[in-house]
Amino acid sequence: MRHPVIAGNWKMHKTIAQGVAFARQLKARVAGLHHCDVVIAPPFTALAAVADTVRDSPIAVAAQDVHWDREGAHTGDVSAGMIVEAGCSHVIIGHSERRQEHGETDETVNRKLRAALAAGLVPIVCVGETLRDRDAGRTEDVLARQFEGGFAGLTAQDFSRIIVAYEPVWAIGTGRTATPSMAAESHRFLRRLAEKAFGAAAGLRILYGGSVKPENIAGLMAEEDIDGALVGGASLEVDSFSAIVNYPQARRDQP
Ligand code: PGA
Repeated sequence: MRHPVIAGNWKMHKTIAQGVAFARQLKARVAGLHHCDVVIAPPFTALAAVADTVRDSPIAVAAQDVHWDREGAHTGDVSAGMIVEAGCSHVIIGHSERRQEHGETDETVNRKLRAALAAGLVPIVCVGETLRDRDAGRTEDVLARQFEGGFAGLTAQDFSRIIVAYEPVWAIGTGRTATPSMAAESHRFLRRLAEKAFGAAAGLRILYGGSVKPENIAGLMAEEDIDGALVGGASLEVDSFSAIVNYPQARRDQP
């Protein structure tokens, strides 16, 4: 049985004060929660304060990016050790916004991933096709390329510590969600790739990301191969993020 993960990616939102206020409220809402892991990913500036706020709660904290070097002349970058010191246990790597806006490649994803693993972080590695890829029937080719490049040279042991997030680029921030069956099809494909490359993929957790909301989480989570969600916009309000975290309730509320 794979333990689900609901992760909120705040992107470039929230000051330190806003992040701490959110974390306090969320902490109260998720006390005693066991059905899934809850992760929030504030911007770098708020990591330490948010991590302090959620200490001794079921909430884990993720950074949104990491550099592969331990230290050095990399203006604007942050190392895995720095992230750990700030109180993070997870890090998002290879988000499509980083790939598009910062020229991140499968090779840099791979280097970042290794640095994160070496520092004891749990990497949440994002993959996903653009609309052009999907329309051209290239979804599986793109996922296979991102998977092979991103996870090149890892041992099965390394791989067992990774969370994959399937995020079709056309569904991010657009309000256009992949249908549960569409997402599940890609998840099954990714699981087959993992099985081929690393032998055992039964324990691999694959999250879906792209316009996840309280209204669609139950349908997504009903899919056998969807093990959680990486939520952007709907993770910014405590009410909507808590509703997503409490998806078993939404499932029960459905007719
Ligand atoms: P969204 O973002 O939920 O706002 O579509 C998802 C993501 O980018 O992780």
